[in-house]
Amino acid sequence: MEKIKIIGGDPLQGMVKVSGAKNSAVALIPATILADSPVTIEGLPNISDVRILGDLIEEIGGTFHFDGKKAVIDPSNMVPMPLPNGKVKKLRASYYLMGAMLGRFKKAVVGLPGGCHLGPRPIDQHIKGFEALGAKVTNEQGAIYLRAEELRGARIFLDVVSVGATINIMLAAVRAKGRTIIENAAKEPEIIDVATLLSNMGANIKGAGTDVIRIDGVEKLSGCRHSIIPDRIEAGTYMIAAAAMGKEVIIDNVIPQHVESLIAKLREMGVHIETSDDQILVSSIPDLKAVDVKTLVYPGFPTDLQQPFTSLLTKAHGTSVVTDTIYSARFKHIDELRRMNANIKVEGCSAIITGPSQLQGAKVKASDLRAGAALVIAGLMAEGLTEIAGVEHIDRGYSNLVEKLAGIGATIWREKMTDEEIEQVKNA
Ligand code: EPU
Repeated sequence: MEKIKIIGGDPLQGMVKVSGAKNSAVALIPATILADSPVTIEGLPNISDVRILGDLIEEIGGTFHFDGKKAVIDPSNMVPMPLPNGKVKKLRASYYLMGAMLGRFKKAVVGLPGGCHLGPRPIDQHIKGFEALGAKVTNEQGAIYLRAEELRGARIFLDVVSVGATINIMLAAVRAKGRTIIENAAKEPEIIDVATLLSNMGANIKGAGTDVIRIDGVEKLSGCRHSIIPDRIEAGTYMIAAAAMGKEVIIDNVIPQHVESLIAKLREMGVHIETSDDQILVSSIPDLKAVDVKTLVYPGFPTDLQQPFTSLLTKAHGTSVVTDTIYSARFKHIDELRRMNANIKVEGCSAIITGPSQLQGAKVKASDLRAGAALVIAGLMAEGLTEIAGVEHIDRGYSNLVEKLAGIGATIWREKMTDEEIEQVKNA
């Protein structure tokens, strides 16, 4: 086990290159199960979620060759192996194996997914979609069993706008008989990316990126080559770091339209931002203004940036309110920020931040992926040394975070934890 150490206060300057989108990658890899010949995905992030999904692809008889950026996946010899336990429990996105295996084999057994603890994260809308397509779905001892004689297109209205359910239903529907219509679909860029891969494989999908998606089932999907979109949440994390500590930081390999809600909030705080085709220049000012933020489905402010943004707001003058309408309990980072001298209280699904506070270095623990990003940003802003445990959460979603931040001037490094420290973290 390792920890991240940061000596705060260094100004950030230079260019940081964004990797491929984690939340696309974790859907694109299972989507390849639906093809009958090898698929190449370029620009994948080198994160543990991708490596774990690669292992799962191999467990069901596929091959997964990953060089840290490009993966070649051969699904031709895959079998509907049950996956009730083991690695499926390590990540949330293993639920995409349900839709993809159901689509290809008309059956699947997948353990209920793990992932970040952000309060309740039901998958009832995924199951409602599978059932509408003709699958029988049961929950037996913590694993979801899916079986269908055949899958038939259906009209599915999602009660909750869900990224996961939208993608999972697309995966199950692309090889179903007839037309599927998903209404009240999520519109995140990652959904368009998955639809693009599936279309390149031969699927017939219209409307991805709008709230009505139409899928006409096809009999066969074949291998292709696909380039993943840049990670808007990783880009946003570095934009926030730059707003906190940056002189002039260029974020490279980003689609500015994907982070418009963040750009608007940063400008409201006084941060200077310029955009071009695939780069964003962020230059900060000393006296940032407090702002209120409410997380919403895309194109609203992303819940995944709420935690890192809260760290930035500790530096702003005045009172800011951050409300998470997607995950009402996504506030585990707040206690840790308080330990670092932040003035924050949580009321219901809102965090109320009064600033400015000069953060102080401390020993803290990341409880989930984006809490980890929030603590890294806090560490960059703090006086003195910050030590962050729970690095395995950060490694699930950020490729080369330490190297990228060191590359723009941060004093940040990783160290092995001693046995005593590991014990302390486990007991905390
Ligand atoms: N929901 C239901 N029922 C369902 C599905 C979702 O009630 O069947 C609720 C959830 O509890 C939540 C809301 O609907 O309140 C939205 O959930 P959604 O299904 O959109 O989330 P997800 O697909 O499980 C993805 C990302 C998350 C990100 C959310 C919201 C992946 C693998 N994960 O999760 O990313 O926070 O969308 O944008 O794509 C992260 O990257 O740190 C992360 C947690």
